[in-house]
Amino acid sequence: MNEAKNCQWRVARRPEGNVVREDFEYKEIDIPDIQDGEVLLKTLYLNLAPVMRMYMSGESAAGEQSLDIGDVIHGRGVAEIIESKHSDYKEGEIVQGQMGWQTYKASKMTDKEKFRKIPDMGAPYSLGLSLLGMTGLSAYFGYFSHGNPNRGETVVISGAAGGVGSTVVQFAKMLDCYVIGIAGGEEKCNFIESLGCDESIDYKSGDIENRIKEAAPNGIDLYFDNVGGDILSACMENLAMNSRIVHCGSISEYLLDEPFGLKNYTNLRRTNSSLKGFFIYNHLHEIDSAEEQLVRWIKDEKIKSVEHVVDGFMSMPEGLAQLYDGSNHGVALCQVRHCTYSD
Ligand SMILES: NC(=O)c1ccc[n+]([C@@H]2O[C@H](COP(=O)([O-])OP(=O)(O)OC[C@H]3O[C@@H](n4cnc5c(N)ncnc54)[C@H](OP(=O)(O)O)[C@@H]3O)[C@@H](O)[C@H]2O)c1
Repeated sequence: MNEAKNCQWRVARRPEGNVVREDFEYKEIDIPDIQDGEVLLKTLYLNLAPVMRMYMSGESAAGEQSLDIGDVIHGRGVAEIIESKHSDYKEGEIVQGQMGWQTYKASKMTDKEKFRKIPDMGAPYSLGLSLLGMTGLSAYFGYFSHGNPNRGETVVISGAAGGVGSTVVQFAKMLDCYVIGIAGGEEKCNFIESLGCDESIDYKSGDIENRIKEAAPNGIDLYFDNVGGDILSACMENLAMNSRIVHCGSISEYLLDEPFGLKNYTNLRRTNSSLKGFFIYNHLHEIDSAEEQLVRWIKDEKIKSVEHVVDGFMSMPEGLAQLYDGSNHGVALCQVRHCTYSD
């Protein structure tokens, strides 16, 4: 990465299957000059999220415009304001928002870019992309607002070792729930047990439906779905009466040409259950109060940030691929510059 330039990752071609380096184009352009009403942002961290492959495929996902070949890839980041001609922002402030895959950005800080100042709490700035970013907030609103959780119930979480999943595991343990985490491989299963899961299921070892039946003999009260596909279908076979499914994501289907096609949804009727989807950007008006609550829990050490940090801007393409091959534990993000703590 060239410090004297604005380094960017752009779409070189539409990915087929998982992303590979050839799908990305690396560019160095001049660092932009700012005009009145703008700030100059210097990237510290960038988030890596499954949705970024959808952007590269030309889909207009997560409220962002679809990308053409040659466009800078969308992505949220944590950045320092290094110059300001904007009345609401000062030099030295740290913000998180729509940075794109680049190392500098001139911005008018429009609503569309959804920039927020990161609370100054003597904690790593990376929290602005993990627990206090869209990942932590998705876990928070998905579980507490859409899951209607009850103390002590049986909760199943797929993608439990990932960013959203590892946060929901901790929320469910805060409510003394019996938590069954689903993840890929023995090592990840050990990891989610160390996070608090009472049981773990390795979906790669097969027979997922019966494994869930054994772990939750009285059925699932709440299933937090990060993956969709056959894991959702297996959970659908194991619902308790009046259970709830929170549809957060369906990563197992993102690389398929056709959607999975769930066949057993009528189990919802038999068990008086509900399936409810949500989209984090529909909760922007409630973020302040959620953030206050999350900050309290972090300070009280009730929840911790689980981060998978990819080192350096040049590693962004591989970092995105890791989400689809399952190499990440916790929230995937890239440390673009070594500037880690708020004072
Ligand atoms: N609704 C919303 O507003 C919203 C907001 C944020 C994220 N999301 C969604 O929430 C989910 C989690 O996002 P995240 O950012 O926290 O990602 P993540 O869970 O940190 O990373 C993806 C994980 O998914 C698992 N995975 C990959 N392919 C899979 C497959 N074929 N079957 C089962 N698991 C697979 C992998 O774990 P294993 O090794 O365990 O397979 C991988 O580590 C995603 O589906 C994402 O799109 C939704």
